[in-house]
Amino acid sequence: MTVSAPASSQGFLYDQVIGHVRQLVDKGTLKPGDRAPSLRALSRQLRVSISTVSQAYAALQELGVLRVRPQSGYYVDSTAGRPQDSPVPRKTAVSQQPRKVRFGELFEEIFSVANDPEVVPLGAAVPSVELMPVKGVLRATQRAAARHPERAIGYCFPPGNADLRHEIARRYVDLGLAIDPDNVIVTSGCSEALALSLQSVTRRGDIVAVESPTYFSVLRLIERMGLLAVEIDSDPESGMCLDALEGAIETMDIKAVVAVLNFSNPLGSLMPDERKQRLVGLLESAGIPLIEDDIYGDLYFGDQRPAIARCYDGKGLVLTCSSFSKTIAPGYRIGWVVADRWRDDVIEWKQATSSAMCSLPQMAMADYLRSGEYERHLVRLRRAYRLQVEKMRYMLARHLPEGTRISNPQGGFVLWVEMPRGIDALELLNRALRENISLTPGMMFSATRKFRNFVRVNCGYPWDERIEHAVIRLGELVREMAHSGG
Ligand SMILES: Cc1ncc(COP(=O)(O)O)c(C=O)c1O
Repeated sequence: MTVSAPASSQGFLYDQVIGHVRQLVDKGTLKPGDRAPSLRALSRQLRVSISTVSQAYAALQELGVLRVRPQSGYYVDSTAGRPQDSPVPRKTAVSQQPRKVRFGELFEEIFSVANDPEVVPLGAAVPSVELMPVKGVLRATQRAAARHPERAIGYCFPPGNADLRHEIARRYVDLGLAIDPDNVIVTSGCSEALALSLQSVTRRGDIVAVESPTYFSVLRLIERMGLLAVEIDSDPESGMCLDALEGAIETMDIKAVVAVLNFSNPLGSLMPDERKQRLVGLLESAGIPLIEDDIYGDLYFGDQRPAIARCYDGKGLVLTCSSFSKTIAPGYRIGWVVADRWRDDVIEWKQATSSAMCSLPQMAMADYLRSGEYERHLVRLRRAYRLQVEKMRYMLARHLPEGTRISNPQGGFVLWVEMPRGIDALELLNRALRENISLTPGMMFSATRKFRNFVRVNCGYPWDERIEHAVIRLGELVREMAHSGG
């Protein structure tokens, strides 16, 4: 069963109902087994329609907070409450030593199963296409192709389609930023935006500071480009530790910092805005460029979109990278970088490596963004991701053994799970893959090979029985491993 949340302004009231009931349970006013207020009573009390309460109750059932008893009403689930108690993973101290990064077949393994429909997709951070606005995007594609058929199949050279760059720049207005569309360079996904940015600001042998744990493709880029990574301790809630970064800047010649400040991958951390400001100030005084990856910024669960580092950048030292891969259409490969003083370098690298980019997806994306459908879609998408993350967190807390710690992200759609010491995540992955369940082992997120007892879990798919069975089975596998000594 999948919960479909209301799409309209009813969504706000729906969230209110969910929040109200959760509070009753979290505070212990309602205990497991207690009867929840009836639909009618809550509708009267909160002044919302019965159908809104009914939809919210369906979501609360999905989350495992409520349970329905036929002919009798809604009751608090017997296990409700435990996930709120589940602690978040601890910050792991990493040694601040620049390292060569070495990764092998693990990448192949994770990505080769990502497209296999037989495998339960808890590994790669991939959203279900079910959640993507397939019809809207295809309509926009048809409109764009019909309007300019010759442009649709012609070359489009860097910096990319002008209408699309304008639409992307316009989206930053809400963050109080005035971005010149000429400063936006369209790339093939956020991956290429990160690669072009790193190529523009570093040379072989340079040291790059990254979060620890960090998105593994950044480590892979660092490896392939002959750079060195210095890992900076990062907190599962607030992200990169700025004191540690400051210490690293004092002792080594760091040439760039790469960070996901909004809902990092894998931690899910959100750096508070005042710390973003401090980060930018710190880097400005050292003259170090920041490559900020904001791919998850639109996927916040709270009321407000978090700021980006660029909001505090007075010297043009921030390169902002992002894409529509987690929100609209991963396969259209539309990403971008706002590169300021490195604009020309980024364009030269782009021209040198891929010359031009596909025209029709850019035209379609510009049309889709202009149509205004994106904002409405985002409201639904954020709610879906939030429910999926909460449900997964709840179910993992229920099925993994005591001592497990689970991140509690306020956006995005991945969870970072610390299992009891001694559980080897690589061994768990091997056992899980034999049962067609994928996962990403923690060691992939660090060049230090730390995080051996951690896994990242993808919550990009609507909850269903297959995922439920996979989580139950994972719990059994971890328990078996714990009994046999890891
Ligand atoms: C933090 C982060 N950056 C970049 C990417 C890559 O994005 P794209 O598919 O647009 O290349 C991902 C994908 O998982 C990601 O998690």
